[in-house]
Amino acid sequence: MRLSCAIASSLLAATTLATTNSRFFRRASDSGYTLKEGPLDTPWTSKVGTNPWPEYPRPQLQRSEWKTLNGVWRYQNATSSDDVNRPPYGVNLTSPVLVPFCLESALSGVMAKWAINSWYQTSFTVPSSWSGNRVLLNFGAVDYEATIFLNGQQVGFHRGGYFTFTIDVTDHLSANGTNEMFVFVHDPTDMGDVQIPIGKQTLHPSHIFYTPCSGIWQSVWLESAPSNHITQLDVSADMNGRVNVTVHASNNGSTLVEITIYEPKSTAVKTTAKGTSGGAFQFTVDSPDLWSPDQPTLYNITVKMGDDTVQSYTGFRTISKGTVNDVHRVLLNGEVIFPFGTLDQGFWPDGIYTAPSREAMIYDLQVLKGVGYNMLRKHLFEPALFYQACDEIGIMVIQDMPSLRTQVQRPGSTACNDGVPVGYASAQAEFERELPLLIEQHKSYPSIITWIIYNEGWGQEVDKEYPEFRLTNLIRSLDPTRLINSVTGWDDHGAGDFHDNHHYANPQCGTPFYSTASTPYDGKRIGIQGEFGGIGNNVSIEHLWKVQPSINAINQTYELDDTVEIWNYRAHVLLMELKDQIDRFACSGAIWTQTTDVEGEVNGMVTYDRRINRMNIDQWKSDIKALYDAVAARSDNSSMRMMPRQDGIGSL
Ligand SMILES: *[C@@H]1O[C@H](CO)[C@@H](O)[C@H](O)[C@H]1NC(C)=O
Ligand SMILES: *[C@@H]1O[C@H](CO)[C@@H](O)[C@H](O)[C@H]1NC(C)=O
Ligand SMILES: *[C@@H]1O[C@H](CO)[C@@H](O)[C@H](O)[C@H]1NC(C)=O
Ligand SMILES: *[C@@H]1O[C@H](CO)[C@@H](O)[C@H](O)[C@H]1NC(C)=O
Ligand SMILES: *[C@@H]1O[C@H](CO)[C@@H](O)[C@H](O)[C@H]1NC(C)=O
Ligand SMILES: *[C@@H]1O[C@H](CO)[C@@H](O)[C@H](O)[C@H]1NC(C)=O
Ligand SMILES: *[C@@H]1O[C@H](CO)[C@@H](O)[C@H](O)[C@H]1NC(C)=O
Ligand SMILES: *[C@@H]1O[C@H](CO)[C@@H](O)[C@H](O)[C@H]1NC(C)=O
Ligand SMILES: *[C@@H]1O[C@H](CO)[C@@H](O)[C@H](O)[C@H]1NC(C)=O
Repeated sequence: MRLSCAIASSLLAATTLATTNSRFFRRASDSGYTLKEGPLDTPWTSKVGTNPWPEYPRPQLQRSEWKTLNGVWRYQNATSSDDVNRPPYGVNLTSPVLVPFCLESALSGVMAKWAINSWYQTSFTVPSSWSGNRVLLNFGAVDYEATIFLNGQQVGFHRGGYFTFTIDVTDHLSANGTNEMFVFVHDPTDMGDVQIPIGKQTLHPSHIFYTPCSGIWQSVWLESAPSNHITQLDVSADMNGRVNVTVHASNNGSTLVEITIYEPKSTAVKTTAKGTSGGAFQFTVDSPDLWSPDQPTLYNITVKMGDDTVQSYTGFRTISKGTVNDVHRVLLNGEVIFPFGTLDQGFWPDGIYTAPSREAMIYDLQVLKGVGYNMLRKHLFEPALFYQACDEIGIMVIQDMPSLRTQVQRPGSTACNDGVPVGYASAQAEFERELPLLIEQHKSYPSIITWIIYNEGWGQEVDKEYPEFRLTNLIRSLDPTRLINSVTGWDDHGAGDFHDNHHYANPQCGTPFYSTASTPYDGKRIGIQGEFGGIGNNVSIEHLWKVQPSINAINQTYELDDTVEIWNYRAHVLLMELKDQIDRFACSGAIWTQTTDVEGEVNGMVTYDRRINRMNIDQWKSDIKALYDAVAARSDNSSMRMMPRQDGIGSL
């Protein structure tokens, strides 16, 4: 979605409107935690309670001995980033906070504004049955910097809002059994001229940029592991049954590893293999059932290394590209597939970055799957359980690197589009540090088919060099099993596997015509419509994010349709225009804006509170099927020029 007057309107104060709706006020008896009344709730808000997200958080590296630390902690605002040097030992912090919901969310019980520097506090005990083993403290994600203190000592520091990180705290546990933990969080988001990877967060929310998320926003948990344990497990499995595994061990050594793959939904062993930790090894599974959106078959895995045993899973599939009847296509398992999905922001009115529950998170995916979408495009990195759900339900994921901030307001200016681009070498360096690490952490999910580096030029250097070429090569070397969409929309210089236009409301997908900020289809790469649609419908006040600047921004939507019926009529027209482009031109994938309304954007399949689904289900099903049929009609596979190379990547 195009940046418009967001910079200028950022000067408006974010005032929450009074609301008469108090159905979700509730007091937890023991902790003092109270759910705050936010600008909008969802059907799941009031069901969260004080034991949120109880599921094991890391399904691809799962241990049996674990303990969640999610629940009510204490919180206090800190006045400066120097406070990290003065942990408030011996003090009970002022307010309860529900972990893992970020400080700005109603579910956190804090609903902070400008949570730039914050203290968290909790205490925990370690089960006595874990003695003799190492105790690992895991954070799913903390935005943006976290410094961890345990029993009076600093035990860890982590930078980057979208990562899982682990600290071995064994040597810092208390002798009396009660462990006191403080976490200091520094999250400047886009304060002043700060430029860090933030995706669509801003301290000045308006229209296409939203409420920020600060602090702990994914599960925190402890687990027990032997002294030499598996720290990371990379698994990829292709359409020919070849499995490529790298087991990373805490001692960095080369230890014997035994791997067992089970038949789907069964405890019967399919294959066993042996290798060593610290380097890649390969083996083959006989004629596996392949993973696809239609048949998302997964295989459970057990990996044993010395005394450590972990559970994981994989899916067998190959992503590649090929030219079929002169059109460049995405191939899944050697066959043409038309990735058709939504732009999926992953924001929640009650949890901001964190869905209120797994059930709520799955609801969004079922809405998409229910009308035949086979893909979604993700602007931020989600918790591991989200990708597992996509793997299980059968939804392909096109994954963005969270963007650097776009521009800063010119001093003293309130005019639209009067920002100066930010572009510090240090910001680019941090972006380049995080990018490969995020890919390493997420490369074992079968559902992820493509990586995106830059969105609409945000934070993309264009004066001194075109960094997307260098970064595309870097990603290719880290992960040769997926396609790369180097720039989605705007400043395209020819890098990567896709030529990707953004255009609202109607598509320009692989077409020889184009508009401002786009480029004509170049014919060398796969043509994809990275964003289109975006048509809006302003339902009614009870489904809106009740914050005045957001409501004022609703008329920045590209098109507003008076009624849901008109919205569905317009959607049909736009989808048939896309179908026409499939028939005539080189359109090989498309992304409709967007899954849900978000704050001042009212263009979702469903409203921000998930209470209204705008889609005429039968019409959308038949329109989406018509797109797939149009692609199939142009992709008679007898004339396919190539099959995927053995390493999984086709060349055009
Ligand atoms: C925290 O304190 C700082 C400095 O006093 C203040 O600017 C900021 O608004 C406070 N934030 C919250 C969430 O209370
Ligand atoms: C902190 O809270 C705990 C539990 O409510 C209480 O036992 C303790 O005395 C408090 N400590 C301080 C320093 O107030
Ligand atoms: C237990 O030890 C920790 C530090 O090791 C200390 O902070 C805490 O006060 C002790 N608690 C009791 C009940 O002795
Ligand atoms: C296996 O994975 C490693 C690490 O991702 C990669 O370097 C290697 O090329 C892969 N090997 C094969 C045969 O695919
Ligand atoms: C293993 O390697 C990592 C990364 O190089 C290093 O930080 C760590 O200290 C090493 N661990 C051991 C036990 O050698
Ligand atoms: C994997 O194992 C879990 C529990 O052991 C089971 O619930 C699940 O259905 C299995 N998944 C597959 C794909 O076989
Ligand atoms: C959008 O609405 C605001 C008030 O809600 C109004 O001031 C402004 O003129 C409108 N802009 C357009 C382009 O209609
Ligand atoms: C959208 O609806 C809200 C609530 O009824 C209203 O205040 C606002 O003016 C509407 N905006 C537009 C652009 O229709
Ligand atoms: C070609 O398509 C047919 C029908 O969809 C399918 O049965 C066959 O396996 C395909 N062949 C190849 C090589 O993909």
